[in-house]
Amino acid sequence: MKISTEEIWIIEQVLAHNEAGTGDLLEDMAEMSISKYLDKDRFQQENDILFKEFPIIVGHISQVPEVGDFITHDATGVPILITRNREGVLQAFLNVCRHRGAKVEGRPCGKAGTFSCPYHGWTYDFNGNLRGMPQGDKFGALDKASHGLVPLQVFERFGLIWLCPSASKEPIDIDAWLAPMAEQLASLNLDSHVVYQAWTVDVDANWHVLIEGFQEQYHFCHAHKHTACSTYLDTQGIYQNKYPHVRHSVPLARIVELREMPVEDWDYRENFMDQNYVFPCNFMQVMTDHVYIHTVLPNGIEDSVFQCMMLIPEAPATEKAEKYWKANYDVLRVVFDEDFTIGATIQKSLKSGANDRFIIGRCENTIQFAQETVAAALDGRLKA
Ligand code: FES
Ligand SMILES: [Fe+2]
Repeated sequence: MKISTEEIWIIEQVLAHNEAGTGDLLEDMAEMSISKYLDKDRFQQENDILFKEFPIIVGHISQVPEVGDFITHDATGVPILITRNREGVLQAFLNVCRHRGAKVEGRPCGKAGTFSCPYHGWTYDFNGNLRGMPQGDKFGALDKASHGLVPLQVFERFGLIWLCPSASKEPIDIDAWLAPMAEQLASLNLDSHVVYQAWTVDVDANWHVLIEGFQEQYHFCHAHKHTACSTYLDTQGIYQNKYPHVRHSVPLARIVELREMPVEDWDYRENFMDQNYVFPCNFMQVMTDHVYIHTVLPNGIEDSVFQCMMLIPEAPATEKAEKYWKANYDVLRVVFDEDFTIGATIQKSLKSGANDRFIIGRCENTIQFAQETVAAALDGRLKA
């Protein structure tokens, strides 16, 4: 059994709050203007900064295990191609032909020998180099070396694929960026997990509305009365601001049993669900025996895509295992539909005039933390 010093501290906090009838509360409630869900200029700024200048999780390494395996990704607003070169190094490019801009690889995933543009057949290798141009003699002295696919920064860390969607972004120190979350991420061994399900849901709501639904625990016993409520201790989670990310440990109801147990026998994972915020738009949900990685991306001001991956330790080898994971997946879909249904009603209500600002409670910690980190990124104080 592995438990970190931090996790022992989290359990101690939960038990102390539970005994005292207190909670992990911020000093004050906060307010936020509803313009962040509606304002065109603000939305453009978020697109240009949050979704271009920071690393975003776009996949799991098992989706591109071998040379020439690829996935494509479009939801950040730019077409992206991710592949593995002959040296085994992950590569990412704008999935845009350098001849006249057609999308080079149209499939969502697969294995390629080379990447061949469907329009006039220009071909590119796994390093994005322009290799072939049909009837190339009709093009004069084109410098092939400077007409490769445009590279993007991509990283494999903790079994996940992190990508920065801007070609002009200065080099990112990904290890420094993820350092505040590294201990927990390493402990999850996601590099040996497999993707059980990957799916996307379009929701008619601003991306903030959606991600904020996963940045507090206050709603569990109302929005999820018949699903998640009874599993967890109501609003007794512990939040740690690991700037710019947040670790939010939500205790299962059974954690109170640890009080009678020596610390040496404590286990963190089997007593918590973590719902961590990884800046800017990832929500990482660590369950007792599997992990969900969610990426929330805007399609428009009032329209977003919620991309989800369910990672399990190994591919189900028996019918029983398959049934078990399927049951977990089904429950999550039900719970998330409860969130998304409410999210869409929030977006619809924004223009009603009922509110010009929302109130964020002392127990909605991640929303308050994220409000500050997003503001810091937009005004240039926070950079990856
Ligand atoms: S646009 Fe790709 S080959 Fe012409
Ligand atoms: Fe929820």
